[in-house]
Amino acid sequence: MKNDILKVLIDEETISAKVKELGEQISKDYADKNLLMVSVLKGSVVFMADLMRAIDIPARIDFMSVSSYGSGVKSSGVVKIIKDLDLELEGYDILIVEDILDSGKTLHYLREILYKRNPNSIRIATLLDKPERRAVDMYADYKCFDVPDEFVVGYGLDYDEKYRNLPYIGVLKPCVYGE
Ligand code: IMP
Ligand code: MG
Repeated sequence: MKNDILKVLIDEETISAKVKELGEQISKDYADKNLLMVSVLKGSVVFMADLMRAIDIPARIDFMSVSSYGSGVKSSGVVKIIKDLDLELEGYDILIVEDILDSGKTLHYLREILYKRNPNSIRIATLLDKPERRAVDMYADYKCFDVPDEFVVGYGLDYDEKYRNLPYIGVLKPCVYGE
């Protein structure tokens, strides 16, 4: 698996330190709120697992799954709900936890449908942001790192469902996805 990685973009220690810092900030900001962390499967699971443990105020969690990419590297623009949340959102301050904000289409759509369920508030926490790639008006309230316009894997992010278990963020060798 490691042979497919061209370079390590963000190493484990750097990720860990930044996630802890973000957790402290969220703990302060949500101290008087009713936090519900919504993890967008599957890419955000590793970030979610670390971020929730860096938060030291009461928090609930839930999961949903949407598809936008299939197994390719380009956004299809099609977003559909594969698995919906278990909880009703009324009364909660929602923090959507995402792996990467790319074109922004996925989160834009997701935020719209969650707003219709009348939560107190909705904010977005993303591990990675690729601002150059934005196709819709969308920003993250909390983010760990900006990344350049390269396809990245690891720490939850996949290519063709692989590489999610790499402990760092890396760039794949172009030959892996046939370029
Ligand atoms: P968006 O709708 O274009 O913002 O796409 C967001 C989703 O695309 C993310 O949740 C990822 O699943 C996937 N994605 C976008 N860029 C990358 C990447 O560089 N590596 C792995 N997955 C990516
Ligand atoms: Mg994702």
